[in-house]
Amino acid sequence: MSLLLPPLALYVHVPWCIRKCPYCDFNSHQAGDHIPEAEYVRALKFDLEQDYSLAQGRKLTSIFFGGGTPSMLSAEAIGQIIRDARDIIGFEDDIEITLEANPGTFEQEKFEGFRRAGVNRLSIGIQSFNDHQLQKLGRVHGREEAINAVSVARSAGFDNINLDLMHGLPDQTLADAMADIDQAIALAPEHLSWYQLTIEPNTAFYSAPPPLPEEDILVDIQDAGFARLAEQGYAQYEVSAYARNKKHARHNVNYWQFGDYLGIGAGAHGKITQLNQHRIFRLWKTRLPQHYLAAMTSQKISTNLQGHQNVFGGGSDLLLPENLPLELMMNALRLNEGVRMSAYVERTGLSWDSLAPSWQVLMEKGLADNDADIIRPTELGRRFLNRALEVFMED
Ligand SMILES: C[S@@+](CC[C@H](N)C(=O)[O-])C[C@H]1O[C@@H](n2cnc3c(N)ncnc32)[C@H](O)[C@@H]1O
Ligand code: SF4
Repeated sequence: MSLLLPPLALYVHVPWCIRKCPYCDFNSHQAGDHIPEAEYVRALKFDLEQDYSLAQGRKLTSIFFGGGTPSMLSAEAIGQIIRDARDIIGFEDDIEITLEANPGTFEQEKFEGFRRAGVNRLSIGIQSFNDHQLQKLGRVHGREEAINAVSVARSAGFDNINLDLMHGLPDQTLADAMADIDQAIALAPEHLSWYQLTIEPNTAFYSAPPPLPEEDILVDIQDAGFARLAEQGYAQYEVSAYARNKKHARHNVNYWQFGDYLGIGAGAHGKITQLNQHRIFRLWKTRLPQHYLAAMTSQKISTNLQGHQNVFGGGSDLLLPENLPLELMMNALRLNEGVRMSAYVERTGLSWDSLAPSWQVLMEKGLADNDADIIRPTELGRRFLNRALEVFMED
């Protein structure tokens, strides 16, 4: 079986926030008085230049500015990073460029600049429209700012907006959660990411857990939220992603379809198929912002285990053929529409026969659709994703 090169995306990590939220385990750090913006933009360019060879001639289908809080950077900085990416790697004609923004007033003033800089999709981190909840979550914005952020984004020319909402919040009732969903729907975003709050190790909530809703309330919230979203035209297409008119997040769909991506910035991860070596590997950059910036100054070359050189290198990991079925399924089974079996073969370099016995087990358990061409979970399979994945761990 021969590998084919999948589409290529770019993830850009911006590791600073105004302050650290108590539930968040992302690589985000409270910014002091000053973000070293110019140095960081220069470092990102250098990082991308060193990863250039990994593109293997492909142009970018999407860019995602994630964080941290990318909207803390100026529109000029975002514009410069976009120009650098275009000059170094190149863009497909219909490239999707998403930026995560916090809904604070300070950020909203920059929305127009972000749009002019080339960002064509804005992802606004709302979390909740309830002021008490926002306070408990340690957010720096309130309900009014959250609502206002969407109209400011529309006036700035954004016609593709995602809202991040969380549920299962401390002391949240079904009515509270539905009020959040209804308010989000009233703002008519194209896309909604609706995450259940998880308590992650190394967070303030882990050390001092807040009182969370009971399991039966969580199930009620899931069911009622799903039904309301569906009734209002927001179709679920991934575990936590809902969209109207099929405005799926192209960047994330590429991850779930086992596409390739470059990752630049502190702690950013990439996944690359190397055709000439017939292998797939992950690589990541050094995690702490101060180390990332110091690497630029020291210019000490680091060579990862796959032989790739990048002064910001943090590590790398070869995806062994025996682990590829699980790797692919962990992503593909998140998607309601699934992934073509031919894409599985092209993107892992494995034959379908090697997977057929596990696939048979999945169908017998009612966890996957019996379709000859598509790897797709049933509703049961989506609900019990871990149970479905266990089948591939048993191999
Ligand atoms: C990188 S974060 C944030 C972007 C932006 N800094 C913000 O907070 O608005 C992406 C999203 O992940 C979700 N998230 C973060 N931590 C979470 C957790 N512990 N449980 C569930 N969702 C979480 C939030 O909805 C958040 O908006
Ligand atoms: S949730 Fe967003 S704003 Fe809060 S610390 Fe994490 S990345 Fe920063």
